Amino acid sequence: MKALVYHGPGKRGWEEKPKPAIINSTDAIIRITKTTICGTDLHIMKGDVPEVIDGLVLGHEGIGVIEEVGPGVSNFKVGNKVLISCITSCGSCDSCKKGMYSHCETGGWILGRLINGTQAEYVRTPNADTSLHHIPDGVDEEAIVMLSDILPTGFECGVLKGEIKPGDKVAIIGAGPIGLAALLTAQFYSPAEIIMVDSDENRLSIAKTFGATRLISHNAVEEIMKLTSGKGVDVAIEAVGISATFDICQSIIAAGGHIANIGVHGKSVELHLEKLWSSNITITTRLVDTVTTPMLLKIVLSGKLKPEKLVTHRFALNEIMKAYDTFGNAAKEKALKVILTNN
Ligand SMILES: NC(=O)c1ccc[n+]([C@@H]2O[C@H](COP(=O)([O-])OP(=O)(O)OC[C@H]3O[C@@H](n4cnc5c(N)ncnc54)[C@H](O)[C@@H]3O)[C@@H](O)[C@H]2O)c1
Ligand SMILES: [Zn+2]
Ligand SMILES: [Zn+2]
Repeated sequence: MKALVYHGPGKRGWEEKPKPAIINSTDAIIRITKTTICGTDLHIMKGDVPEVIDGLVLGHEGIGVIEEVGPGVSNFKVGNKVLISCITSCGSCDSCKKGMYSHCETGGWILGRLINGTQAEYVRTPNADTSLHHIPDGVDEEAIVMLSDILPTGFECGVLKGEIKPGDKVAIIGAGPIGLAALLTAQFYSPAEIIMVDSDENRLSIAKTFGATRLISHNAVEEIMKLTSGKGVDVAIEAVGISATFDICQSIIAAGGHIANIGVHGKSVELHLEKLWSSNITITTRLVDTVTTPMLLKIVLSGKLKPEKLVTHRFALNEIMKAYDTFGNAAKEKALKVILTNN
């Protein structure tokens, strides 16, 4: 089969690899029908995720059709159409029993990081019963691909951790796919204001169509303090992963507010406890657990949430090298999510 293979920082190829086979009885082999590229794959390509070894197939998002199951798989049969969660979980270890699948003792984020991933014609998914979801016939498959990672990430790490409540003033720093997923799912809770901050005007204009009430491209702290009469916001969601944007969150948070960090940080940030110690704020971090995926799937199937709006570019799977170039130049290409289809 063909797959997108990582060969160290900056090096990748669309290459022949052996088709995966069942290793453990709880595995499934899936023929990928649609996959996508994540900002995290770009982090891997830069060498920011050093545990990824030369020769690994990338990708942790996608949907496909079950080709083969091990004897220990009971919920899925050959021919079923499935959503592959970016997080693999056994369902029975201590972490899984707490719903913290991201820290599953034998799983977590392993696809496209520790084991071969979904940017390929076929993928092996361990613990299939607890890591896959059935997809009904006739649904918009592009919408469903957004449920592998970005929608549960924006919702769990941003909206749920931020504890957004009706009437809240919310600021989301970063209008990439993750910040936009937080914007879409924040609206479940009817906040009064959702202020989007990004230096990319194109992404801000998309945020506007997704329900943002205010857009800020410069002087974020000053502008947000002005908008909130000097009080700050109830919830600040960090969806970039650099110290400058975490600093914005610290400077705009109202007394009693929540700072929900989503971004993957490669460097340390300065925590301003000299200002915040008395502000009764909560700061949270989370690796997506995908524990809300079944709920989000129901909302997407109902038509109330349309994550397919995040898709800007479409390619055949065998054009994935070009798709990486497009996604890697997101601002110039006006790209959000790219969809790769295996025909
Ligand atoms: N916690 C988790 O489980 C989890 C899961 C998936 C992704 N992530 C992380 O979430 C973050 C966002 O992901 P994404 O795919 O949306 O990334 P992205 O790179 O597409 O989006 C980041 C956005 O931030 C904007 N930006 C950069 N610097 C800025 C600044 N100084 N001020 C304002 N805006 C700025 C960029 O223009 C871009 O639109 C990444 O760090 C990613 O690795 C975390
Ligand atoms: Zn991802
Ligand atoms: Zn587990």
